[in-house]
Amino acid sequence: MPITRQLIIECGAQSAHGELPSPDRYAVFGNPVAHSKSPRIHAAFARATGENLCYESRLAPLDGFVEAVRQFILEGEGCAKGANVTVPFKEDAFRLADELTPRARAAGAVNTLCFHEGRIWGDNTDGAGLARDIAGNLAFFAADRRILLLGAGGAARGVVESLLALSPAALVIANRGTDKAKALAAAFAGGALAPRGMGLAALAEEPAFDLVINATSASLAGEALPLPAGIFAAGSLAYDLMYDKGETPFLAQAREDGAARLADGLGMLVEQAAESFFLWRGKRPEAAVRAALMRQLRAT
Ligand code: ATR
Repeated sequence: MPITRQLIIECGAQSAHGELPSPDRYAVFGNPVAHSKSPRIHAAFARATGENLCYESRLAPLDGFVEAVRQFILEGEGCAKGANVTVPFKEDAFRLADELTPRARAAGAVNTLCFHEGRIWGDNTDGAGLARDIAGNLAFFAADRRILLLGAGGAARGVVESLLALSPAALVIANRGTDKAKALAAAFAGGALAPRGMGLAALAEEPAFDLVINATSASLAGEALPLPAGIFAAGSLAYDLMYDKGETPFLAQAREDGAARLADGLGMLVEQAAESFFLWRGKRPEAAVRAALMRQLRAT
């Protein structure tokens, strides 16, 4: 099956006289991928930091992710330096990588590839992006607070390590399927704080939480989660990894259930991109650039 180039390539730094060397090339691979904001985000980062690069989106066939990446590297003739990976290929990317960072290993998934000296490095910047959004942009300090993570699939697994690194008083992982929540908690039991896994109904027996993160795919289907009353503590933050034009179903539910602050995943999207950009270019776009970009993305 042919690999489709989905979008016009977005370029960063431009020379008025056209004398820049060939730009380094990056891409995001997904299926679907047309909705991806990554080309826009990385083009904005490149302009802001003066980096000479192009970033495009590529639709890979569902059974052809590895071939699509290899083709991108070949076509780049040495200029292909890295890629982002989105749904449904993060586990494929994990298997494709020759080397994995510890955080990619913990996440069991890869969202950032670096092509270096013939080898493919796999990293995962999702958890770091979430932590930066919560602690930096939202100024929510999770140390010694109680965190509830809803869901036990790939998205949840990708952020557990970063949540533990915030040094909360407790991390509870609750899922519709109890066994999956317990298994995910057990996978991260080796550190200073062991997360606890349980079913959603068992949350009724728990003290309220200061930070409640939705990592289920229920919002995608427009479904409400069967959550007991009283899970949101006074002053709590509800965070949905998903983002949407309007309020997500989870955030609407959280507002009604007493969450004091609501945030969707747009900040995490921009922050995980900034983390990927830093890996590739050694430069972090300034906070003002990231904030302006979030406002623009929100408005369009
Ligand atoms: P992702 O990669 O997005 O995490 P996934 O691995 O399929 O996708 O995981 C989806 C998560 O959303 C799971 O935790 C799933 O719960 P189950 O393990 O019990 O299936 C959760 N989920 C999806 N729809 C849900 C719903 N309507 N109510 C509650 N949880 C839901």
